[in-house]
Amino acid sequence: MARELERLFEVTVNDSECPPVRSELLQGVWGCEGMVTMLTDAVDDAFLAAAGEQLRVVANYAVGVDNVDLEAASRRGIVVTNTPDVLTRATAELTLALVLTLLRRVAEGDRLVRSRRPWLWAPTFMLGRGLAGLTLGCVGLGRIGQEVARLASALGLRVVYTDRTGVEGGSDPGKKACSFLPLDELLLDVDVVSLHCPLTPETRHLIDAAALRSMRPEAVLVNTSRGAIVDEWALVQALRTKQIAGAALDVYEHEPAVGADLIRLDNVVLTPHLASATHVAREAMGLLCVDALREALLERRCPANAVNPEAWDVGANRVRA
Ligand code: DGY
Repeated sequence: MARELERLFEVTVNDSECPPVRSELLQGVWGCEGMVTMLTDAVDDAFLAAAGEQLRVVANYAVGVDNVDLEAASRRGIVVTNTPDVLTRATAELTLALVLTLLRRVAEGDRLVRSRRPWLWAPTFMLGRGLAGLTLGCVGLGRIGQEVARLASALGLRVVYTDRTGVEGGSDPGKKACSFLPLDELLLDVDVVSLHCPLTPETRHLIDAAALRSMRPEAVLVNTSRGAIVDEWALVQALRTKQIAGAALDVYEHEPAVGADLIRLDNVVLTPHLASATHVAREAMGLLCVDALREALLERRCPANAVNPEAWDVGANRVRA
C-alpha cells in the first residue's frame, strides 16, 4: 500500500507497527488532503480539526468504522471510506476456526500437552462437541455473517440469524437461506452465538448479563466483531459460574487490554484481533484505501466505498466557497 501511495502522492508514513502518540499525530496531520487510518486511531472531531480545512478523505483500513466520528466527518465535509468484501472470507474462516477450537477443545489440548502433565488416550478423555446438528445463531447477517452462515451450513450446522432490522430478510438471498429469529429467541435457541454486527451506540453491550443469562448452559459465544458489543465483566461472571459453556474472543472491550479474569478461565479461547489477518486480505484492504484516495483526490469523485457519501457534496461546496 505505502509504495502505491508514494507513487501517487506526497506521503508521510508512520511505518511503525504501533500507533503514533496522539499529540504527535495531531501535529503531524496538519495540511493533509487524505489519510489512511487504522482501527487503533481515534478519528474524532479534534483529529479532523487538527488536519485542517483541506482534508477531503479518510480511508479507514478496516471494514468497521467505530473508531471514526462519522457525524463530525460529515459535518466537516470529509468522506470516510472502509474496506468491505476483501476481508469477509478471512473473518468468516477465523470465526469457524474459533468455533472448532472451542467445541473440540483444541487450545485446551495444546495447553495440556505443552504443560507436560501426564495424559493418555482413553475413551472419555477430553471429549468435545462435534458441529453436526448444532445450531449457530448469527447476530448480524451482513457480508461476514452470511459467509459464516454459508461455511457453517457446509459443516452441518443449522443457521438462524437476527439483525437490526428486527424482521425477516425479504429478498436478500443470503438471508433467505437462514431462518430469522428476534434476538431474545435466538439466544434461547442456539448452541453457538456468533456476533457479526457493527459496534454502534445501539449494539454496545448488546450481549449483557441478561442476554448471557438467557443462553443455554451448553451454549458458547464467539466474537470476531468488536469487543464492546459484549459486556466483558458480565461475560466473565457467566463463564465463571458456568451459565454458558464457553467463549471465543478475537476482540476485547478495552482492546488491546485483556482482563486477567478472562485469561485465567479455561473455557475461553482468546486471539489477538486476527480476523482479517491473512496476507491476501490485508494487501487487498490496503489497495482499497489507495483506491479511495485516488478517487477522491485525483479523480475528484466520491469514493466507491464511502460510508458517508453525503459528505462529498458538503466538502465540494466548502472547497468552492
Ligand atoms: C475490520 O476491518 O474491522 C477488522 O476488525 C480488522 O481486522
